[in-house]
Amino acid sequence: MSVKKVGVSIIGGGLMGREIAAALSRWSALIDHPVVPELVGVADINPAALEWFKTVPTVEILTTDYHDLLSDPRVDVVYVAVRHDLHEQIYTDVIRSGKSLLAEKPFGIDGKAADAIMQAVNETPESFVRCSSEIPFFPGAQWAINYIQSGALGQIIEARSSFLHSSDFDQEKAINWKRQVQFCGEAGVMNDLGMHTFHVPLRLGWKPSSVYAVLQNIVPQRPDGKGGIAECDTWDNATLHLSVPHKDKSATEETFPLTVEVKRIEPGEKNTWLLEVKGTKGGVRFSTKNPKTVEVFALVDVPGVGKEQSWQRIDAGSQSVWPTVTGGIFEFGFSDSILQMWAAFLAEREGQLGGKFGPALPEEAALTHKIYAAAIASQEKQRVEKI
Ligand SMILES: NC(=O)c1ccc[n+]([C@@H]2O[C@H](COP(=O)([O-])OP(=O)(O)OC[C@H]3O[C@@H](n4cnc5c(N)ncnc54)[C@H](O)[C@@H]3O)[C@@H](O)[C@H]2O)c1
Repeated sequence: MSVKKVGVSIIGGGLMGREIAAALSRWSALIDHPVVPELVGVADINPAALEWFKTVPTVEILTTDYHDLLSDPRVDVVYVAVRHDLHEQIYTDVIRSGKSLLAEKPFGIDGKAADAIMQAVNETPESFVRCSSEIPFFPGAQWAINYIQSGALGQIIEARSSFLHSSDFDQEKAINWKRQVQFCGEAGVMNDLGMHTFHVPLRLGWKPSSVYAVLQNIVPQRPDGKGGIAECDTWDNATLHLSVPHKDKSATEETFPLTVEVKRIEPGEKNTWLLEVKGTKGGVRFSTKNPKTVEVFALVDVPGVGKEQSWQRIDAGSQSVWPTVTGGIFEFGFSDSILQMWAAFLAEREGQLGGKFGPALPEEAALTHKIYAAAIASQEKQRVEKI
């Protein structure tokens, strides 16, 4: 039986462009997927960035003009990984070309850009659009999501969702586009890391109604890489105290607190995503710091003692949303999460995801900008803001 081929292309051959090309080359690890993607083209305005892609045997188009990909019949799907100020133009061009789009976060530099992208999404139903968010595809995160959805936690008491880096701890590190408002956006670190922290809460139906934000610009200047000093005007760290209305109408309170932390300066952390949810009957937490382990809270019977409150550890194994040839007891990593996100994206595009977890919806990505705008207003006015 021949499997349907899907022509994939990449706009932006930098850090993430190469990561996606590498993940697609491992497609044979997936079992019984409805399609096989082939990376056929790459566009980058920097010809040097295209060099690396010459090692990928399926790539036929290397161009400095992304429009070449949008008019090429070999291309079905476009993945875009460029600076945030370029999202609106390139995403709307891809969508209006009728090709499918896997967009990178934050889905436009701000709410206005996200609205323009949403308008293109709504006007072009033939273009299948999702936003990248791969970390929830770690098996431990999937375990936690399924456990929360089962209702086992009872009434939610509180939740925490964080993404923690220390990539900017070194104050001598030269500035780059991610640290400048004009390229990264006014939301700063929220634009960089926020989608990672809101994907799961929004998918669980937890739409925050208000926010109190503490935003920090800890390092306001950095070396410009040319011997001088440049303004580093983005927020480095953001702690958001959000209120989320209970979906369960029998809950004893109207809302529960969701704490979201996105930090570029969290000493000791390299790339830690964590989710922790506690309820009246149970709890669950997962962190990529210990990627094999999910922790589950329960009341346990201790012989000779009686009931005790206990956090227990479960090894998560290797299996995520789409089955793979990897032994179930083996370890899972970042590149596996990218492969799983793509497996989910392309299966959903075929209508064959079957209710399993998929990448962020355009509406979810657009909603994050409303949250960031309210957080910025909260910081300015030092008060709780409605979302
Ligand atoms: N999902 C994740 O885990 C993750 C991680 C890092 C970055 N990102 C996101 O990915 C996007 C890109 O980040 P990055 O770290 O890969 O950036 P990068 O700076 O490493 O790469 C961007 C590339 O885009 C190219 N480019 C610029 N203008 C272009 C144009 N008009 N046409 C074609 N190419 C162009 C640049 O030359 C560069 O090679 C951002 O939206 C960022 O937030 C996502």
